[in-house]
Amino acid sequence: MIPQERPAQLALYGGPRVRSEPFPSRGHVGAEEKAAVDALFDRAIADGTAPGYNGEQETAYCQEFASFMGGGYVDAVSSGTAGIYASLKALDLEPFTEVIVPAVTDPGGLMPVPLLNLIPVIADAAPGSYNSGPEQVEELVSPLTSAILVAHIAGEPADVEGVVAVARRHGIPVIEDCSQAHGATLHGKLVGTFGDVSVFSTMYGKHHSSGGQGGLIFTRREALYQAVRRASDRGKPFFLPPGSTNVTASLNLNLSDLAAAIGRVQLGKLPGIVRRRRAVVAEIAAGIDGLETVSIPAPIEGGEPSYWFLKMRYHANRATCDKDTFCQALTAEGLSIAPNYRAALPHTMDWFTQRRVFGHSGYPWTSPDYAGDPNRRFPCPNANAAMETHFNLHFFESWGEAEVADAVAILQKLDRAFARP
Ligand SMILES: Cc1ncc(COP(=O)(O)O)c(C=O)c1O
Repeated sequence: MIPQERPAQLALYGGPRVRSEPFPSRGHVGAEEKAAVDALFDRAIADGTAPGYNGEQETAYCQEFASFMGGGYVDAVSSGTAGIYASLKALDLEPFTEVIVPAVTDPGGLMPVPLLNLIPVIADAAPGSYNSGPEQVEELVSPLTSAILVAHIAGEPADVEGVVAVARRHGIPVIEDCSQAHGATLHGKLVGTFGDVSVFSTMYGKHHSSGGQGGLIFTRREALYQAVRRASDRGKPFFLPPGSTNVTASLNLNLSDLAAAIGRVQLGKLPGIVRRRRAVVAEIAAGIDGLETVSIPAPIEGGEPSYWFLKMRYHANRATCDKDTFCQALTAEGLSIAPNYRAALPHTMDWFTQRRVFGHSGYPWTSPDYAGDPNRRFPCPNANAAMETHFNLHFFESWGEAEVADAVAILQKLDRAFARP
């Protein structure tokens, strides 16, 4: 919908921007990360060796992340996707059983499921949220269900306590996908400590990163940790009696020590990053309080998000333009916006609808060993509604007072231009 009036003061229609210079980049990687990598190189050059994997840097990174999580076991892997794969593999789920997966997630949060010959069953989001909750999960539980994946999207805690309660009633394990939620808490407890095992992506854009790509798997269960280690390194017989050989077929999903060295420095910055992100959101929320066109939805009760991005509600019924136009106007003013969580949810993408996992076989859905409906579809009305009524604002912990004030001024300016009289 093109607004009837094109307010001339908006940058979208040729007016002056609120902010003349671009918003700053994130700047979260610096001399400390470089020094950590340099030190490894210096040592390798002096020794005539090469920086490797499963070495002292990874061991230290895993111990430090385990202490950040309040105790437990950690394996560092090559990506969040790899973490989901290794966690599912470590749970040793029977093929052609079903794994409940949230609708709103990254493809990497879903693809490992069919790659392990498990059938993904897609849970809708809770009303108004990107996250699936206990009700959406429970209605999908069947005798075929072997695991539940729950994701904390945008850094907002899902009702993982409720999901775990459902899972416990049915004797099913829970994997928490915390890729977007490092440091978020629910009722004072870090997300990732509720389920049986949890996964964190540490690719370069995440709250804390281990360089370009990376991931962490956390669990409090020692036996599961040991299975994770084997699953993430070609089934090597770690923790098994001497003489054992590789026990299962798997991939090589190791993180390198160079990446772990970066991750350690970044992990030290994580508490400050989360604190600043929360403060920025609180300041934006105060600045836009009372606006007609946009608001920041409250997290679930007891939830303290860590805000990977800021999910904002657009109130089309109180505005004279549609969300797309509003988002274009925000972009024209210099803010970085995603009008939708992503162009398509992973289960609506071609690979999923056309069942392209193992050639043209349609496996695992079409296997005679799958007792469910291979053509089942998942309409997910709540997830679609949440995507239609929200947009995502990208912001960084590097924002200072001026950036917050400018972001608020932009949102106020658009509200003056587009709020219904
Ligand atoms: C919710 C979620 N799950 C899984 C992944 C996959 O992580 P990676 O990109 O590190 O493979 C991501 C990545 O953004 C994600 O956001």
